[in-house]
Amino acid sequence: MNLILLSVSYFLASVLFVLGLSGLTKPKTARRGVGLAGVGMLLAVLATLLHQDIITYQWIIIGLIVGTLIGIPMGLWIPMTKMPERIALSHAFGGLAVALVGIAKYWSHLHVDGELSKFFMGAIGFEVVLGSLTFTGSLMAFGKLQGVISGKPMTFKGQNQFNFLIVVSSLVLLVYLVFHPHLSTAFFVMACLGFCLGIFLVLPIGGADMPVVICLLNSYAGLAAAAAGFALDNNVLIICGALDGGSGFLLAMLMSRAMNRSFRNVLFGAFGGEVGGDQVATQNKPILQFAPEDVMEYLQGSSSVVIVPGYGMAVAQAQHAVRELHELLEKNGTEVRYAIHPVAGRMPGHMNVLLAEANIPYEKLIEMDEINPDLPKVDACIVLGANDVVNPSARDDPKSSIYGMPIINADAARMVFVVKRSMASGFAGIDNPLFYKDNTRMVFGDAKAVLQNIVSKLKEAA
Ligand code: TAP
Repeated sequence: MNLILLSVSYFLASVLFVLGLSGLTKPKTARRGVGLAGVGMLLAVLATLLHQDIITYQWIIIGLIVGTLIGIPMGLWIPMTKMPERIALSHAFGGLAVALVGIAKYWSHLHVDGELSKFFMGAIGFEVVLGSLTFTGSLMAFGKLQGVISGKPMTFKGQNQFNFLIVVSSLVLLVYLVFHPHLSTAFFVMACLGFCLGIFLVLPIGGADMPVVICLLNSYAGLAAAAAGFALDNNVLIICGALDGGSGFLLAMLMSRAMNRSFRNVLFGAFGGEVGGDQVATQNKPILQFAPEDVMEYLQGSSSVVIVPGYGMAVAQAQHAVRELHELLEKNGTEVRYAIHPVAGRMPGHMNVLLAEANIPYEKLIEMDEINPDLPKVDACIVLGANDVVNPSARDDPKSSIYGMPIINADAARMVFVVKRSMASGFAGIDNPLFYKDNTRMVFGDAKAVLQNIVSKLKEAA
């Protein structure tokens, strides 16, 4: 393939990546966005393979088969609720690939090509340090989310100083290598420091902050790929890496803000305790309970209903039952809307994706800031497997660990139905005063089963 054709292919691939990314900003265009980015990647890979002087395709084909055998089951069988873990693993693979390419490139230049310019050495140094720290850091994040490693922050005295020392040592070695590129011992010590840095940066961060950390590691992987692009003189890698690096960093900052976490603390502090989820609320206050038929009767007389979906809706896969309830209520003249919290569920846009999958009209999904002023006028608010994102302590109790996190003011509605299986706490592992309010009725059960029950009762009553 000649150089012009290669440049045109890379340009087209880059345009497809940008279009793909912009498609991901709306659920309606997200599927197309993923498809466009996929075509872009295929184009970039094919153009690279056809342009390079490939000595043998044997190893490339083996890599393709192994990657396909691992990738397809990962994509097909890992449930949506395990997506952060899956993404952490993908980043680990990406980081390792980038680091290994950098090491191989250094080695071949050292022993075969002989020429190691200052610029090349600088780019390859960044690539290896960022790639190796992304690899081990992502494995740590995966281990914490999966429960293989304790989700508690693991700290020791002088941790931040120790990490600072590793960062400074890696940078000093990198600068040294730029001027003395033939000192391979320094290169490999620098690579080892990168691997260690990933471990020591992530261990002191609690499981609760892992999704933010994963986004940040995504950003590092992107920057490593961009550095690889400079080292390999590959424009599409530079563009793709920069897009990944920039978007990962922005996402990490936005998530920190929505969870009211200080970005600095997430980066450097022993912060965010163990992932909650199964902890049982300790308070023994009275609660009011409703059966699905009671809910059905109330909903029949309601003119406006707001549904607040949360992680439990994802676990129960209740989105299709939600759609059925939505249609029945609308037939009855009830206005139905959804209150979407930016960090409901376990990944950005989790609820939007699930509701879009069930064909809920996008205009019915209302952002938290927009729906909150309307909630006092709403007849019924159905909190469906959500917990932390409707916890009034975040608004009212300065001593609460989630104080300051913006919430959906579900308690402002005339009546609140909380659908969940027990009194267990949510991700933050804390009690929720909403459950004990006078206008709250607990409806215990699996979100999908409860909704199906309400739907069948509504149909019977019709
Ligand atoms: P959570 O606070 O985690 O609460 C989910 C609730 O769902 C639990 O209390 C659980 O109670 C219930 N549940 C689980 N399975 C269920 C089922 N089958 N049927 C019905 N209910 C079920 O969820 P949330 O309100 O969506 O808040 C999200 C939390 O995750 C926030 O703390 C947020 O900061 C954190 N987080 C979010 C993200 C992103 S980007 N979305 C990333 C990291 C962390 P039972 O066990 O009693 O049923």
